[in-house]
Amino acid sequence: MAESKATLSIDGNVVTDLPILKGTAGFDVIDIRTLGSKGYFTYDPGFLATASCESAITFIDGGKGVLQHRGYAIDDLAKKADYLEVCYILLNGDAPTKSQYDAFKKIITNHTMVHEKLAHFFQGFLPDAHPMAMVCAVVGALSSFYHSDLDIDDQAQRTRSAHRLIAKMPTIAAMAYKYSIGQPFVYPRNDLSYAENFLHMMFSVPAEEYKVSPTIASAMDRIFTLHADHEQNASTSTVRLAGSSGANPYACIAAGVASLWGPAHGGANEACLTMLEEIGTLDRVDEYVAKAKDKSDSFRLMGFGHRVYKNFDPRATVMRETCHEVLSELGIKDPLLDVAMALEKVALEDPYFIEKKLYPNVDFYSGIILKAIGIPTSMFTVIFAMSRTVGWISHWDEMLSQPGQKIGRPRQKYTGEIDRKFIPLKDR
Ligand code: CMC
Repeated sequence: MAESKATLSIDGNVVTDLPILKGTAGFDVIDIRTLGSKGYFTYDPGFLATASCESAITFIDGGKGVLQHRGYAIDDLAKKADYLEVCYILLNGDAPTKSQYDAFKKIITNHTMVHEKLAHFFQGFLPDAHPMAMVCAVVGALSSFYHSDLDIDDQAQRTRSAHRLIAKMPTIAAMAYKYSIGQPFVYPRNDLSYAENFLHMMFSVPAEEYKVSPTIASAMDRIFTLHADHEQNASTSTVRLAGSSGANPYACIAAGVASLWGPAHGGANEACLTMLEEIGTLDRVDEYVAKAKDKSDSFRLMGFGHRVYKNFDPRATVMRETCHEVLSELGIKDPLLDVAMALEKVALEDPYFIEKKLYPNVDFYSGIILKAIGIPTSMFTVIFAMSRTVGWISHWDEMLSQPGQKIGRPRQKYTGEIDRKFIPLKDR
């Protein structure tokens, strides 16, 4: 609903009035959709001030460090709900009753196996392929298994795709890991929780029994929850844009996986550990902090800073607590973790980081936890992708449910050549 209007005037001449729309919280938005007809586009590379859609899933107030899913605060969800409950909330809008939760859990559990043919896809990869490369390809390939269930205008089919993706992502992720280390794939177990089952598929081998540690399973579940959704970030916007053309859900989620892979986004947790390994010892921390502050050096401290959180990242607060709990409960001693703790201290005290509001982000702590619980670095972003699948698919479903949904088609400010005379090759 238009509450008030903004007037665009150029050189003192009024061009048009633009309605200002209000959400339930957060910044008001200026509706510029009619501006094209007046001969202007807006220019906002990197979407620093552009609301690309309307959404009722996740609210972030970066200045205040607020993150809420469907109105529920992230720290409450992380501490009082398990990941599947958060999935239900993101997908359906409200916290489930006990019977709704049980029914949802049963559905997800019943979809965890993948078609045996899907296992053959892995054989085409080199053993040293990055697990993200395998996951991206195999998730896209899932669409070939569900030809008859890909009508995106049918809510029941969309919901089934969402359930399949949430259920099968851990299986595919663990398969990518097992393939990369030359071990047999491990089938899911329906008697385990979502997090326990993932750890079981990752770490058990036919030769001996694997007991899932409750501390590790609960840390894993919290990592899933804290990565479940984050409104219109790069990968979610990618999923929405891909989906806006009517592409099938598996193709859209594969696009999300690809976008997440970059080190400025989901790849940050892997990049953070690689950086800790490069720093190596405590005596080199100052040198790397100096590099990060040097304007002539492109090096950045991975796992620090965030586009929207400029005071603190509420996910990082919970993850930091979990990180310290896990390290002390497991009694883990690792020089890299000492380096991480020293970096955390410097960044929280150094004026450069304080002035630029660069705090350790969720991926700094999740990387440390994952390392402590024995997850290989190359799997970090895969785990982020698994966790974020519910967010991606919830946004995809929301977009397709909205009336008047249009294909995404940004415009541009053209800066290239114009009206050149083309000379045929033989005359050049
Ligand atoms: N180390 C050192 N300096 C930094 C860092 C860093 N990690 N991040 C930003 N800066 C500086 C940057 O050089 C710039 O300085 P100046 O104003 O002097 O030019 C200033 O801080 C602002 O940086 P920006 O690139 O304009 O900020 P942004 O909001 O566009 O970027 C970011 C946010 C997350 C991409 C960036 O902070 C970064 O590259 N961090 C490291 C990668 C990382 O950890 N990414 C994970 C984000 S959380 C997971 C997710 O949600 O995907």
